[in-house]
Amino acid sequence: MCGIIGYSGPLEAKRLLIEGLAGLEYRGYDSAGIAFFDTVSQVRLVKQVGKVAALKETCEKLQGSSHCGIGHTRWATHGGVTNANAHPHQAGRITLIHNGIIENYHQLTEEFGLQDKLVSQTDSEVAAHVLDHFYKDDPFTAIQELVRRSEGSYAFCILFADRPGEVYAIRKTSPLVAAYTHSGALIASDLTALIPYTHSYFVVPEGELVRLTPYKVQTYRLDDLSKTQPETMTVNWNMDAAMKNGFPHFMLKEIHEQPEAMKNTVLPRLSKGLPDLSEDGIPDALFLSCSQVHIVACGTAMHAGMVARTIMEPLLRIPVTVTIASEFRYQQPLIDEDTLVIVISQSGETVDTIAAMGLAKAYGSKTLAIVNVKGSTIARESQYVLYTHAGPEIAVASTKAYSVQLAALYLITCRMALVRGRYTNEQAVTFLQEFLDVIPAMEDMIRRKDEMKAVVSHIINSPDAFFIGRGLDYAFSLEGALKLKEISYIHSEAYAAGELKHGTIALISDKVPVIAIATQDDIFAKSMSNVREVKARGAFVILVTKEGKDVSADLADVHITIPAVQDIFTVFPIAVVLQLIAYYASLGKGLDVDQPRNLAKSVTVE
Ligand code: AGP
Repeated sequence: MCGIIGYSGPLEAKRLLIEGLAGLEYRGYDSAGIAFFDTVSQVRLVKQVGKVAALKETCEKLQGSSHCGIGHTRWATHGGVTNANAHPHQAGRITLIHNGIIENYHQLTEEFGLQDKLVSQTDSEVAAHVLDHFYKDDPFTAIQELVRRSEGSYAFCILFADRPGEVYAIRKTSPLVAAYTHSGALIASDLTALIPYTHSYFVVPEGELVRLTPYKVQTYRLDDLSKTQPETMTVNWNMDAAMKNGFPHFMLKEIHEQPEAMKNTVLPRLSKGLPDLSEDGIPDALFLSCSQVHIVACGTAMHAGMVARTIMEPLLRIPVTVTIASEFRYQQPLIDEDTLVIVISQSGETVDTIAAMGLAKAYGSKTLAIVNVKGSTIARESQYVLYTHAGPEIAVASTKAYSVQLAALYLITCRMALVRGRYTNEQAVTFLQEFLDVIPAMEDMIRRKDEMKAVVSHIINSPDAFFIGRGLDYAFSLEGALKLKEISYIHSEAYAAGELKHGTIALISDKVPVIAIATQDDIFAKSMSNVREVKARGAFVILVTKEGKDVSADLADVHITIPAVQDIFTVFPIAVVLQLIAYYASLGKGLDVDQPRNLAKSVTVE
């Protein structure tokens, strides 16, 4: 999941590449580098460990102008975080950047006798040498040979030293978007690098060659090199959407954007108070014919699936299964043409989820994707798509995407209940009215953010934290634990509250923070008995309930209440509570909230 950008045009390339990398940095930020043709058409290369800001300082000292080049931010897959392993990589007349994994790079190293030539530990440098081996003054045939020999995933951007002003690219699985704009020809791993220059772009078709010159972006079929004309798409984001707009961090901005994102996702899909997915091209037959639902996703998206399952099964009375995509893709799942597979992905580029969706289609199942990025791979390859309208999510820790994924799942659930006769029109209207009541509840929790800020002092000095809950509260706690661990580095786990006593309670000792979620009325008493168990063992209890619950002070060290929305909708205000606890814990530890260590926003490698 690296950030890639290429440019050829009248503007100063070094500055444009660096600015583009800054926008792509959330995709990976171990190290960064650019390569460009200088004023005498020589390829210059600057790359280093650290963030794009450090690279920018180095490049600002360079003399001379440039109008064509490539840039890369790295999330390490092969080899440590070193200058040598940073991209671009060079071999002979080739300078190359790469996003993906060349799975047979060891075999290529042997086959082309590269052992003594490599200066890095990366698969990408091997690709550069293989390409240089085949480059006999014709970029296209050289790239054809490289592709023929490469196994795995890639998005390559390439400079050929004797072809100044030209950038070549090709992709397989890893994303690339491109556009010819008033500022010149641009290609990048995602839209955030293109938005400053254009709102119309195209997705580079899988396996097609792209050539950028100062006057054109041209795509070609790989086999016969015939020219192609990919479909142009438009994006309705603007630069503000991809900037912090006065917030200290993207994550806090995106937490605040949730109510708006919910409205943008839900309201256009209501007609006469009923859920209406016809504009999305999703037929009722899809919901009527399925005998089971299988939800497949990763991380936060998978957690949204866990919440959906807990409300879908009791209402629809059909099996709803949630599987981690990286597990699903290597299983023999019990699915068939009567199975609806719902694939959830904010980026639409998560390679495990892409592969899982491919397996589902191979079994003849219908696929419905819930995606936030228009035109992304999952959106294009799924039979049906329901776009969420959260706008760009830049912080690595997903927040507004989680809420709108849930909103989409609740809409689907309501529509399914209606078409399958589990809901009358009146019940569906009531469901949606109560659903829309959560938006003010989310706004309320955002306003009360200082309450969440106040609790983190009891968490940030502990190596461990536990989230416990039953039923829907357990499903919410999965997401709360992920949020906290991925940006504060506190080892936090979610546990079914009733399961604690079967072993894990051994880990509860004096002052261990336990965030207990108890919002479901029918099991509130049971949840509270679990709180007593951890309290009796010295835990520091942060209890989250609906308002109006009377809780004795000796039971909860901190009691946070949310507005008394219906039980099945408490996930929305709770999500804000848990996101803010994680945000302030990371801040309290002085960590990089938006770009936590070891992570990247979109996991486009296995
Ligand atoms: C969530 O905070 C993480 N950034 C991560 O778990 C993310 O949800 C996961 O990688 C899935 O990404 P996707 O929704 O883009 O497929």
